[in-house]
Amino acid sequence: MNHPSAIKRDQARLRACPTGLDPHRMPKHIAVIMDGNGRWAKAKGLPRIMGHRAGVEALKRTLRLCSDWGIGALTVYAFSTENWSRPGDEVKFLMALFERVLQRELQSLQEEKVRIRFLGDLEGLPRRLQGLIAEATELTAMNTGIHFNVCTNYGGRRELVLAAQKLAERSAKGDLDPALIDEDLFAAELFTASDVDPDLLIRTSGEMRVSNFLLWQLAYAEIHICDILWPDFDATALRESLADYQSRCRRFGGLDPVPSDYSES
Ligand code: IPE
Ligand code: IPE
Ligand code: MG
Repeated sequence: MNHPSAIKRDQARLRACPTGLDPHRMPKHIAVIMDGNGRWAKAKGLPRIMGHRAGVEALKRTLRLCSDWGIGALTVYAFSTENWSRPGDEVKFLMALFERVLQRELQSLQEEKVRIRFLGDLEGLPRRLQGLIAEATELTAMNTGIHFNVCTNYGGRRELVLAAQKLAERSAKGDLDPALIDEDLFAAELFTASDVDPDLLIRTSGEMRVSNFLLWQLAYAEIHICDILWPDFDATALRESLADYQSRCRRFGGLDPVPSDYSES
């Protein structure tokens, strides 16, 4: 039997689901490439960093909406392994922004029961940020709300290489027969091991590429690209992404519906 609090949560989710969307067909996991901060700022005659600041507000908004609408996990791309090639001042600003925001928002994340994690090569981040990440991860680890993954110093290829290294080490030690390595075993070594693969990938600002994001996990994600620049992403834009997702027929390589010439005679 379902626990009364689980039933209550389900009812609240059904009530919160925006009109026009089917609450039973919401994605379990949404991944977002939050792109267009620089262009947003440029269009307003502002320095790029103001776009990153406004991007934080869009992220807070999106997290709250996903949580209210019953999405189980949200994974966002905050800083790629390639973003180190940007001008030093912008990189420095971003690292300081991550620190400030994490410090400022930790209490409300905790109150909202969000489980936050940072995915990526965290050792490459500034020490202070590493400390704050460890603290936030530990504090929220047992939270029962939305799983919020922030990909920071994240690269899909790097993630795959690290997974291969870990499996190779276990094999070299004699702990793992290479013939037993299958997709489940491989996926268990990825940063995302505790979450299902994203059902929906959203990329803002109209760019049609994955930019080294979740190369393994996006194998069967539905892709929604919108022209909106990330700081302008709001409830309407998220609702549109979800409506687009719900209009898709996910076949996973099969046939749906099964054509009548294959049905039993
Ligand atoms: C995305 O916005 C944020 C990060 C990559 C950190 P951009 O900074 O890439 O913005 P554009 O693409 O230059 O407009
Ligand atoms: C992808 O955006 C990385 C993040 C959103 C953090 P970029 O702006 O770095 O991607 P490219 O350079 O346009 O491919
Ligand atoms: Mg960009």
